Amino acid sequence: MTLSDADMELYELARAASANAHAPYSRFPVGAALRLRNGDVVTGVNVENASYGLTSCAERNAVFAAVGSGQVDFEAIAIHADAASAPPCGACRQVMTEFAPELQVIWRRDGQVVSAPRSQLLPERFVL
Ligand code: THU
Repeated sequence: MTLSDADMELYELARAASANAHAPYSRFPVGAALRLRNGDVVTGVNVENASYGLTSCAERNAVFAAVGSGQVDFEAIAIHADAASAPPCGACRQVMTEFAPELQVIWRRDGQVVSAPRSQLLPERFVL
């Protein structure tokens, strides 16, 4: 699967953002970059806490930051961690669907950057 230049650029923004992660406990920094339909990009990183359960994932922090700035028209999200495979966790998949059921998700699998629609990663999202 070949990713577009725009999607690879988004992945590189996620990689750059991961430098800001606060991950002293897991030592697993994660960066996320969320692209809006107007081209804007909002980034997020995982933020851990000495009280481990309070940790918040990079993807969710990116989504929450975008929503907080009034931007909810999401097109794609890229996730980077320094690992051969770093797909988004299940909780983040659910959160991603709230504003963009057809969001494109970009991540690294077995050393290769890949992309799939959210519906493939989470076929049945919870809805109210
Ligand atoms: N983490 C993320 O930021 N995103 C995910 O999708 C999965 C896990 C973070 C949480 C924690 O800080 C570290 O990775 C190890 O689990």
